[in-house]
Amino acid sequence: MKLSKKDILGIKELSQDEIHLILDTAESFLEVSTRKIKKVPTLRGKTVINFFVEASTRTRTSFEIAGKRLSADTVNISASTSSLVKGETLTDTAKTLEAMNPDIIVIRHSAAGAPHMLARLVRQSIINAGDGAHEHPTQALLDMMTIRMEKGTLRGLNVAIIGDIAHSRVARSNILGLTMMGANVTVCGPAMMIPRDVVKLSVRVSYHMEQAVKDADIIMMLRIQLERQNDNFFPSDREYARYYCLNSNNIRLAKPDVLVMHPGPINRGIEIAPDIADGAQSLILKQVTNGVAVRMALLYLLAGGEE
Ligand code: CP
Repeated sequence: MKLSKKDILGIKELSQDEIHLILDTAESFLEVSTRKIKKVPTLRGKTVINFFVEASTRTRTSFEIAGKRLSADTVNISASTSSLVKGETLTDTAKTLEAMNPDIIVIRHSAAGAPHMLARLVRQSIINAGDGAHEHPTQALLDMMTIRMEKGTLRGLNVAIIGDIAHSRVARSNILGLTMMGANVTVCGPAMMIPRDVVKLSVRVSYHMEQAVKDADIIMMLRIQLERQNDNFFPSDREYARYYCLNSNNIRLAKPDVLVMHPGPINRGIEIAPDIADGAQSLILKQVTNGVAVRMALLYLLAGGEE
């Protein structure tokens, strides 16, 4: 099967079959990163531009590594070193990049919908690496890949997503993906951090951590997105941690083989206790490893082909 898409803008635009294709392809690429020479010639002659207008460690680095492991030429642009600081618009920047004839443009932007605008504007494939509080599809794909590899399936699993649901693009993309793939999703956090209409996305809502983690197969903890909050949503970090930090006490309510995830960056002691983040049940670094494979799969499926 071929991915017949020009762009990857959100999980909402993908079907179950397309998600399985991406995850299967990503699993087949995992081995490349364990070779002595971590490179295949698949995308030789292709050019990938990583255009990050917002800060990133994991997503940006893994897209660059993914491109290089596939032998593509990768170019990185950040907001602070681009002509955006001289007042150039996003539209003019996009048309400028298009004129250099790359094959794929990966974009992260603080404005929801920025990748969608670019996708309409330029002929190259656009991959959304996170747009505002809207979607982070490649994160959800690597999360689904990680769960599927660890648990064998996504269908029927109890997944608790806990934290700042309202401002999290990771939460939104994971809710869309996990529910589509048959998981039972519970979202949990302080009432101010739960979007009012989230139940329309077929999730259960809980305001109590103990209730949310009970019988969970997977607990996905989220960072508080201070950069997207205009108000003070809670009195202090200590107060937040008292009610919503995953620790060795409340994790006992989950299934004995529960696994813990976090997209990163983590705030130790606020949403996750250090011994849980570093413990045997933590998948945090596996998520990072799988992130390279998922991004290799996406670059390959958009720019490469089927062979
Ligand atoms: N998970 C994630 O998007 O991390 P970065 O912001 O470091 O890319």
